[in-house]
Amino acid sequence: MEQLSLFDISPQASERWQVDNFSADNFGQQSARMNLEQKFIEIMVVSNDFNRRSVSYQLSKNDCLHRWLKYKEGFSADLVKRLLKEFNIQVGDTVLDPFVGSGTTSLVCKMRGINSIGFDVLPMSKIAIEAKQSVFDYDLSEIKRLISEIENLSLPENYDRRTEYVTITDGAYPDTTAKEIAFFTDWNNKTGYSKVAKNLVTLCMLNSLEKVSYTAKDGQFLRWDYRSKKMIESAKYRERNGKTPLVIRLDKGNLPSLKQSLSDELNSVYGDILSIQRNSRPTESKLQFVEGNALHELPKLESNILSGVITSPPYCNRYDYTRTYALELAYLGITDDKIKRLRQELLSCTVENKPKIDCIRGNYIALGKEDDFNRIMQIIDGNKTLSEINHSLTERSKNGDINNKGVLRMVDGYFTELTFIYAELFRLCKSGAKVAFVNDNVRYGGEVISVDFISTELAEQIGFKPVKVYSLKQQKGNSSQQMAKFGRVPLRKSITVWEKP
Ligand SMILES: C[S@@+](CC[C@H](N)C(=O)[O-])C[C@H]1O[C@@H](n2cnc3c(N)ncnc32)[C@H](O)[C@@H]1O
Repeated sequence: MEQLSLFDISPQASERWQVDNFSADNFGQQSARMNLEQKFIEIMVVSNDFNRRSVSYQLSKNDCLHRWLKYKEGFSADLVKRLLKEFNIQVGDTVLDPFVGSGTTSLVCKMRGINSIGFDVLPMSKIAIEAKQSVFDYDLSEIKRLISEIENLSLPENYDRRTEYVTITDGAYPDTTAKEIAFFTDWNNKTGYSKVAKNLVTLCMLNSLEKVSYTAKDGQFLRWDYRSKKMIESAKYRERNGKTPLVIRLDKGNLPSLKQSLSDELNSVYGDILSIQRNSRPTESKLQFVEGNALHELPKLESNILSGVITSPPYCNRYDYTRTYALELAYLGITDDKIKRLRQELLSCTVENKPKIDCIRGNYIALGKEDDFNRIMQIIDGNKTLSEINHSLTERSKNGDINNKGVLRMVDGYFTELTFIYAELFRLCKSGAKVAFVNDNVRYGGEVISVDFISTELAEQIGFKPVKVYSLKQQKGNSSQQMAKFGRVPLRKSITVWEKP
């Protein structure tokens, strides 16, 4: 293994990124995790080059093109550019992102003449990718005309249709706004503007939904404004049943009309298109995107095609994309039933995820790859760190330290599924190709789970050479419950880098 120094950080200070107790109060076995920590701390680099802003959406907010889909889970274009440079990726090479989100990796590649392949289960990704990769195809005068037509349209008095909703988004908009959304959508479906222009309107609609609604995305859930039907009914219910009054903290103030928001969004995108068309040139590179589950799609690809992978999977942190993006999914016609099915397609990152292993096995058998399936399962089943974690969490749960059994299923499923992804990436990479994964370490019931080092160990067992684990100076905050009960531990935010020899 290549030994690297920790730049900018003194050896003593680096201890702050090293975990010396994986099981609070020495509750359970931790020797496998301790050994792993000793082994991979050697290649850990506490880096100034990457920071919390670069692994989050914050930098993209000011970045032409990359800010087109409001997607807080995205990483920055700057991070992708740095990694492309570090990996020495050239024009004409192919880079994969199995978890595309807003498409940062795909679009940075596209602008630099690099081919890319990407997957995501969310339908918003497809709309964002189509809108962004068409940046040189827009007719600016058409977009100007379209914006001006929208600004001159008004909701007819007798219009009575409302936008679609699902159970968790019922009552999300003021009634007139629900009608406006339906009206502008009908209008967009019927107008004679080009396909790319209509898709741009859909993208700007998606970006407007939260702004014009009574909701706010907040961690794992939507928060609701005090004026929403949900909050009003809930407050009345509590009063009727003699419960303590509901404290509703969200007041979004004056909500803009859909027309206003749509026009603002389109004008902002118009400015970006103008600037990009003036200052950059289209490239010949191919951007392939498939709306689908990476676990099922990667095994279908040809071997030895990639020069690099730059990605960030869902974190093992109970974050449910189908709840956070419920307004957007409902707008795109995804029903309650479909949302439940979509949740199960997500890499196991919520407590509601059920095991997918039978489905994965079925897919490998259908592709005539049962041997590959069995080989990958052997790696998972033989990994001592994973066994230690699964065992510790089970004991913690029996001890009452974990309040939701879904956490055990999630952690087990998370690493099982990621191992399949890592194994497919190994097959798809050319010799010398590098892979970067952005991820966060987590802790449940006092048990620290070093996602960065465990993933690196699994990747090594698959055949990758571990290169570096960049750890951000800013660590992840400990949850207040975990801190109160078990004290504070370093939880790294990392970028793991591996190479196919
Ligand atoms: C952390 S986000 C990626 C953000 C992306 N790097 C960006 O800059 O926008 C993780 C993405 O993985 C997607 N995802 C989750 N499970 C998936 C699966 N099984 N196959 C494909 N995509 C999946 C989620 O929908 C989410 O968009």
